[in-house]
Amino acid sequence: MTGRFITFEGIDGAGKTTHIAAVAQRLRDAGATVVLTREPGGTPLAERVRELLLHEAMDTLTESLLVFAARRDHLRTVIAPALAHGDTVLCDRFTDATFAYQGHAGGADLQTLAQLEAWVQAGLQPDLTVWFDLDPLIAAERRAQARTADRFEAQDVAYFERVRAGYRARFEAAPQRIARIDSSQDRAAVSKQIEEVLEARGW
Ligand code: TYD
Repeated sequence: MTGRFITFEGIDGAGKTTHIAAVAQRLRDAGATVVLTREPGGTPLAERVRELLLHEAMDTLTESLLVFAARRDHLRTVIAPALAHGDTVLCDRFTDATFAYQGHAGGADLQTLAQLEAWVQAGLQPDLTVWFDLDPLIAAERRAQARTADRFEAQDVAYFERVRAGYRARFEAAPQRIARIDSSQDRAAVSKQIEEVLEARGW
């Protein structure tokens, strides 16, 4: 028995967090046991790594190594056991974020990231990735209304243009796995798009 692994991605302020809870509810209503988790994080060790990543200055290769170390712990102790148990795992960000943030935006070598991905994930990929795509200018306006910025959220619009381009490159390389959601629409319209993606898969 193998469960489903669904990840959620997008630039900061694209609105993914509000929609993950709705997806969890929908899948629970359909009878699934849902495990909600996030990256960086999802285990006590990985949550400590998250604190370092979000608040300490470091170069992007160091960031990448820490992100993948946290991911290894998260996969081994939470994600893989849940999938083996037949649960549905919903993860707020995963490896596409590393390619977008550390790689495309931060300049970490993409080949190195691909090696780390192969090494840590050993072929495991999400069954579905929901990508909340949004113009960085709109995302910046939305973020301005929210809380204090961490290291990544404090970056300028040009940085988020590169993050967005990174997500687009991942989308173009894996269009069967990644579903693009137009996040410029209002909340109800975004929910409807996500429902259509799940329905198309019979979920
Ligand atoms: P985020 O989902 O935005 O958390 P919150 O909504 O609680 O602020 O994730 C935190 C940050 O981590 C986000 O700015 C992107 C960054 N990040 C990376 O740089 N690389 C990664 O591999 C991951 C998973 C996240």
